[in-house]
Amino acid sequence: MVSLTSPILPIGAEEVRPVFACICHAVTEDQIGSAVDSGADTIDEVGCLTGAGTGCGTCHDRIEELIELRCGACPLAALQVA
Ligand code: FES
Repeated sequence: MVSLTSPILPIGAEEVRPVFACICHAVTEDQIGSAVDSGADTIDEVGCLTGAGTGCGTCHDRIEELIELRCGACPLAALQVA
């Protein structure tokens, strides 16, 4: 059955759908990752760059997880002083 709402993709291509981390501001996990790559390593800094987390705050835990996931492999993370 062909869905009329699905895009037509080349054979073998997979549709990539955005995963929203912050619903209030429609910010995707990829956008948060880009913010972290730009140097944001706190929820406030991610919020300044993307708007994520500046509404209800429900997404704060996920933003923190994404920061940790993205920065965990970063060699500069080991240089940060507690
Ligand atoms: S879901 Fe991110 S601020 Fe509300």
